Amino acid sequence: MDTDWKRVSVFLLFLKCVDCTGTATEWTYAGTVGQSEWAKIFPDCGGSSQSPINVDTSRTLHDPTLPPIQPLAYNKLGNKPFTLSNSGHTVHMTLPQWMGLSGLPWHYSAVQLHLHWGKGVGVATGSEHTINGRSSSAELHVVHYNAELYGNMSEAKTQGNGLAVLGVLIEACDEVNQAYNSILNYLGHIRYAGQKVSIPAFDVRSLLPDDLSEYFRYNGSLTTPPCYQSVLWTLFNERVKISHSQLMKLSSVLYSSKADTAEVSALQDNYRTTQPLNNRTVLSSFIHVSDQIYTAGEIAAIVIGCLCGCVGLTVIILFIVKTIRSTSSWDVLPSIRPAPQPRTKDVGKEVKEDMVLKTTSDPEKPEDPAPQTES
Ligand SMILES: *[C@@H]1O[C@H](CO)[C@@H](O)[C@H](O)[C@H]1NC(C)=O
Ligand SMILES: *[C@@H]1O[C@H](CO)[C@@H](O)[C@H](O)[C@H]1NC(C)=O
Repeated sequence: MDTDWKRVSVFLLFLKCVDCTGTATEWTYAGTVGQSEWAKIFPDCGGSSQSPINVDTSRTLHDPTLPPIQPLAYNKLGNKPFTLSNSGHTVHMTLPQWMGLSGLPWHYSAVQLHLHWGKGVGVATGSEHTINGRSSSAELHVVHYNAELYGNMSEAKTQGNGLAVLGVLIEACDEVNQAYNSILNYLGHIRYAGQKVSIPAFDVRSLLPDDLSEYFRYNGSLTTPPCYQSVLWTLFNERVKISHSQLMKLSSVLYSSKADTAEVSALQDNYRTTQPLNNRTVLSSFIHVSDQIYTAGEIAAIVIGCLCGCVGLTVIILFIVKTIRSTSSWDVLPSIRPAPQPRTKDVGKEVKEDMVLKTTSDPEKPEDPAPQTES
């Protein structure tokens, strides 16, 4: 009965989702259908291999066999424009299927790219993945499906080894990144959810970091509902930089609401919090040199080392003090000791004399088997 009611209520929720927009899109990052509620409507969101994660570089496993990522035909523009759209959750750009990836266990074909960001001001938050607990201001995801195992994206997205996503951490600095303007310049045309615009094709490779050989690799999920656990993740170590004003544009121009709604809400903070790693391993294609001087582990080791050293030193000092004290008391003793020594000798003599007396008083017993002859 209980599970039946659950099924009915989930079904009703599902109907409601389909009903309101024509597609199952009623979820948000915060509020009543926020992140903590996703798993109630989309069970996979409560799985044990979810994304994003925090990458703890002291616990990644270096795998020297991981090759550099090679984008295939990312710079081939074709003769059609790209389509940029506002999904209500992100800005989304479809990618031509001739674009792909090699350097992964299968051949993957490109599907789309999109971004995640924060509010664009103050501390850097907005990225989904974090490295050693540190967020970035935004994150680019380039989504691909496994074209060797599956016929299309909709078939692949629910399957193991179905998808491969490239994750790029984006940081704000003073210099303008022209490549990102190929997207940002058109955001004004798609301010409301559901809007689309055609934009001139551009070299998608230019959105990625220069170094595609250093990355983290793990098995995870889509970071939005329905959170399918079908993604082989590649998170690049090198961050891409955009200007503060570019970041401000990204995080202030779009709305998560449709054009006909009375109350508009800004499309901001569209990032999921990091999920438990559970028993997964994060591989790294490189040996990570920490950007801190000491990692937390190293600091702990140094503190423990110092403590042990101090305890050891104290023990040694105590031992030396004790030794000095006892030798100095021995220095005093000989003057006392010579006196009792004769006494102990006397005691020995007395004992010996007693024994002599005893033996003499009983002469038959020692070494005399004679009594045996009595019987
Ligand atoms: C994807 O592939 C499946 C099975 O191969 C097929 O049934 C479906 O129609 C395809 N979908 C699209 C959008 O091409
Ligand atoms: C991901 O999962 C597959 C099995 O589905 C496994 O063979 C592979 O080693 C895993 N990769 C990582 C990086 O853990």
